[in-house]
Amino acid sequence: MAALSDKLADAYQNARPRYPIDWFTKLAARTGQHKLAWDVGTGNGQAAIGLAEYFEKVVATDINEAQLKRAVKHERITYHHTPTTMSEDQMVTLIGGDNSVDLIVAAQAVHYFELATFYNIAKRVLRKDGGLISVWVYNDLVISAEVDTIMKRLVDSTFPFRTPVMNLAFDGYKTLPFPFESIGMGSEGKPIMLDIPHKLSLKGFIGFLKSWQPAMKAKERGVELVTEDLISKFEEAWGDNDDDDDVKDIFYKAHMIVGKLTASDIERHRKRFESNCVVTKLKDSNNSAIIASVTAAAFAGVAAYCAYSARKNT
Ligand SMILES: C[S@@+](CC[C@H](N)C(=O)[O-])C[C@H]1O[C@@H](n2cnc3c(N)ncnc32)[C@H](O)[C@@H]1O
Repeated sequence: MAALSDKLADAYQNARPRYPIDWFTKLAARTGQHKLAWDVGTGNGQAAIGLAEYFEKVVATDINEAQLKRAVKHERITYHHTPTTMSEDQMVTLIGGDNSVDLIVAAQAVHYFELATFYNIAKRVLRKDGGLISVWVYNDLVISAEVDTIMKRLVDSTFPFRTPVMNLAFDGYKTLPFPFESIGMGSEGKPIMLDIPHKLSLKGFIGFLKSWQPAMKAKERGVELVTEDLISKFEEAWGDNDDDDDVKDIFYKAHMIVGKLTASDIERHRKRFESNCVVTKLKDSNNSAIIASVTAAAFAGVAAYCAYSARKNT
């Protein structure tokens, strides 16, 4: 995702919705515990703030420091800048360790990630017993018949400039790989559809258009899609409200998928835990003593202990 200038980052923040609290109520009701949530690609904390209502601690991460600087503060949320140069192990440690996270949320974000890396980390940190991952995206705006007609033409004009990442979002995550087991709230290829109510002013809407990734991509290629002429058309179509301001009640159309680890993910984690444990226990012992005294029987003893701990921890 292209980094935004300060002005566009402000416009972005004004137009982006917070998510309905009942989404978090429903997700939290399905997780085994409520100790730790991870909001990945947190932006300004739009999802983190909802998670903080239900989880003792929220770790919120993003690769973009400018977004994090504008993030909403909360005593249970800690924000971390996580450049893509961080290793998988560093990410796992920062988030809370293997088998530690009750709920992972990637709100309007997972389509930007390198998916294999992200899913590896997600599968490691997710609590094996009762952990959930939820991803969602919103694409269409529903404002009014007049505005929506012009918006549809604008959306169609973005076709030549769309990247594969944008297509995932435009598709409403129908083509997003999602290697987790369904819990009945969407599945790979079949997201559930939800509405996000939001109050949007005309100024906020124009700001949204200017910080809109497809329009920015077109601009990078020398084509201005959000022209002054188009803005005038939107202004006219927006019309006047009965009251003094020009704020409208609008909806974003959202698409969500929620999943849990598969049995084979859990088995893989158990084996990994077991072998790491054997190595650590042997390293922790006095090396010279090991050389002198480690026998096959001692090794088997450690391995048995680790297998027992792995069963307890998964
Ligand atoms: C469209 S914004 C969504 C922000 C926020 N979650 C929301 O719901 O409005 C996408 C965010 O993902 C972040 N992002 C992109 N690639 C990332 C990555 N590999 N790891 C973490 N964050 C990433 C961007 O910096 C940006 O803040």
